[in-house]
Amino acid sequence: MSSLVSIEQLDRVTIERLLRRAQSFLDHQREGKEEVKVNGTAVNLFFEPSTRTSLSFQLAAHKLGLKVLDFAVGNSSVTKGESLVDSLQTIDALGVDVAVIRHPDNWPGLLKGEVLNLSLVNAGSGIHEHPTQALLDALTIRQHHGGFSELKVAIIGDIYHSRVARSNALLLERLGAEVAFSGPEAFRKDDVARYPWIDFEQAIAESDVVIMLRIQHERHEHLFDTADYNKLFGLNHFRLQQMKKNAIILHPGPVNRDVELTDEVLRDPRCKVLQQVNNGVAVRMAVLEWCLQGGNNEQLVSA
Ligand code: CP
Repeated sequence: MSSLVSIEQLDRVTIERLLRRAQSFLDHQREGKEEVKVNGTAVNLFFEPSTRTSLSFQLAAHKLGLKVLDFAVGNSSVTKGESLVDSLQTIDALGVDVAVIRHPDNWPGLLKGEVLNLSLVNAGSGIHEHPTQALLDALTIRQHHGGFSELKVAIIGDIYHSRVARSNALLLERLGAEVAFSGPEAFRKDDVARYPWIDFEQAIAESDVVIMLRIQHERHEHLFDTADYNKLFGLNHFRLQQMKKNAIILHPGPVNRDVELTDEVLRDPRCKVLQQVNNGVAVRMAVLEWCLQGGNNEQLVSA
């Protein structure tokens, strides 16, 4: 069995294989074809709130025929001080096959040196990575643009606090896209400084894909005032006119309405927010299947 903790562990061939498999799940669904079931048990451990990722992992596991357990953190022995390592060792000893984990810390680092038999899937690790979000974003981009070569992608907004920004940049670069960041200077992040930082209006006008990021209020030390954000760094009626006709707008959700995107932008046909959500189920089916059927065993969590 394999784990997916970071985009770093996926080469281009594996990424393309996962995207093709996810697309085939969508095609089968449209054609009414039944999927071959995968045996096993999955558990979701969400130490941070989630709507999209949590529900889509549950749905993906059900569609694959997996038994799904919910680890309700607030009712678990975590409330008695059980560590993540102890929780996972216990779940492993119970015979569970795959654990899907969202945690406010960079949780793979907390497991360094631990030996676990079950697969681990990263559903969000603090401000570090969100690999399945990057995969579903890539699938959405490929469905519209057909490929990634020479595609200009701008990732805009709260880069500093965004795990989506990092995973997307790593993945899209691997697929051949030209990735740049933009937004308020205060949100620049050192560990992704190798990507160009471009002017916001230029990013809007020149990009084929505009990925708007949520302002992550819960990770800000001080209250962040959003009063002027849409005027300065958001998408609105004016900026829709500046975008390329064939460009698309992505946002991982949940959207801070009238901050990153106005209602008009959400209704614009170029805005693919709900298509991203729909693709999330198929991508997570592909990832769970890949983990349980072998994947790439060389890069486990302690790598
Ligand atoms: N995109 C994303 O991770 O959304 P949720 O927090 O709702 O899972």
